[in-house]
Amino acid sequence: MAITIPIHQAGSGARARVVTPAGASLTSLPPLSVYVHVPWCVRKCPYCDFNSHAAPAELPERAYLDALRADLEQALPSVWGRQVVSVFLGGGTPSLLSAAGLDELLAMLRACLNVLPDAEITMEANPGTAEAGRFRDYAASGVNRLSLGIQSFDDAQLKKLGRIHDASQARAAIEMAQRAVDRVNLDLMFALPGQDMTACLDDVRQALSFGTEHLSLYHLTLEPNTVFAKYPPELPDDDASAAMQDAVEAALQAAGLLRYEVSAYARPGARCRHNLNYWEFGDYLGLGPGAHGKLSFHDRIVREARLRNPDSWMAAAIARDGSHIAEARTVGPDELPFEFMLNALRLKDGVAASSFQERTGLSLAAIAQPLQAATKRGLLDPDPTRLRATPLGWRFLNDLQEMFL
Ligand SMILES: C[S@@+](CC[C@H](N)C(=O)[O-])C[C@H]1O[C@@H](n2cnc3c(N)ncnc32)[C@H](O)[C@@H]1O
Ligand code: SF4
Repeated sequence: MAITIPIHQAGSGARARVVTPAGASLTSLPPLSVYVHVPWCVRKCPYCDFNSHAAPAELPERAYLDALRADLEQALPSVWGRQVVSVFLGGGTPSLLSAAGLDELLAMLRACLNVLPDAEITMEANPGTAEAGRFRDYAASGVNRLSLGIQSFDDAQLKKLGRIHDASQARAAIEMAQRAVDRVNLDLMFALPGQDMTACLDDVRQALSFGTEHLSLYHLTLEPNTVFAKYPPELPDDDASAAMQDAVEAALQAAGLLRYEVSAYARPGARCRHNLNYWEFGDYLGLGPGAHGKLSFHDRIVREARLRNPDSWMAAAIARDGSHIAEARTVGPDELPFEFMLNALRLKDGVAASSFQERTGLSLAAIAQPLQAATKRGLLDPDPTRLRATPLGWRFLNDLQEMFL
């Protein structure tokens, strides 16, 4: 049950309210991450339902940074005194920002927040916007991890996907990124239009040829309100895509990249700390248009969402009246088990059972019944010290997660 779902009418000046429920009681707060959303792309890809918009001829970088500062300053009372373990600049295409703009953005975060010296600072970049000099400047400003949207190394496939780059630009971007920072992630998608097993494995082989330490491998999904949903391309069927998933996992494992989350593979020590914090039910402050946040307090856990439209968010943020917050609601105690398990069970190793109480403020006894039922059905590991899906549970992850609804 949601306790409060307030309030936002854009431009009304109404402040989002949060009502404290009887519920969470946390003895310590989890690690805090920061997510910053950059909402523009060179052009919109036909499969993408992210909050991303074709950029105007001139990026409104000044207005964006001013609005971001206003958004951040208004959020400070909610995160006072806390250390920031990771920052993620996502999009959209953050690599559209100028080097000076990105430098200002990170300096702003450091001036206002206690960003730990060894914090992981990731920036998403589109190979079609990659420049060696700019990547080096981003790194000099503090970016220590680049995540490149490669999708495929097949030129014909990249065209079908409406990408702004070809395979040789993708390869060049990987080399530039690897020269600029120590940690590089490559995003690939599989089960692409007309793709067969050979083509899928060839994409993976090419990704590995760069000595990649982290791969995100997403099953292409037809999302509502996208061009692909309206004009669906011919896609591999469920059996073919399941076979691709299995073959890719085996190929990556043989190369030393272990699957540690539904879509994430890494060499030992190279896991994405920022995303791990989401899956381990840590906290994150979400800044920028459409950004979501989850913040814990000693007596409640709050979820927030910013206005999605970039212009509306910018105007509302600089008004400094709270109207850039579209929604802020306290998560009810009856929602917390599902929210926690939805994240934790995505991790192949699951999480320590003790973290359920630490992160939700609820006793494990609150989920004793579904835990027992899921273990009996062979979906959950019987080890009482961990909350972890069995291989069968991972295969039927949605069913397992829904048992905690
Ligand atoms: C925000 S984008 C990454 C950075 C940059 N915008 C780019 O595309 O190059 C995050 C990733 O989500 C994945 N993605 C986007 N839409 C998807 C869809 N419909 N199905 C599966 N993966 C998707 C893509 O792999 C993409 O790289
Ligand atoms: S570049 Fe990335 S965020 Fe932008 S539309 Fe394409 S997939 Fe979406």
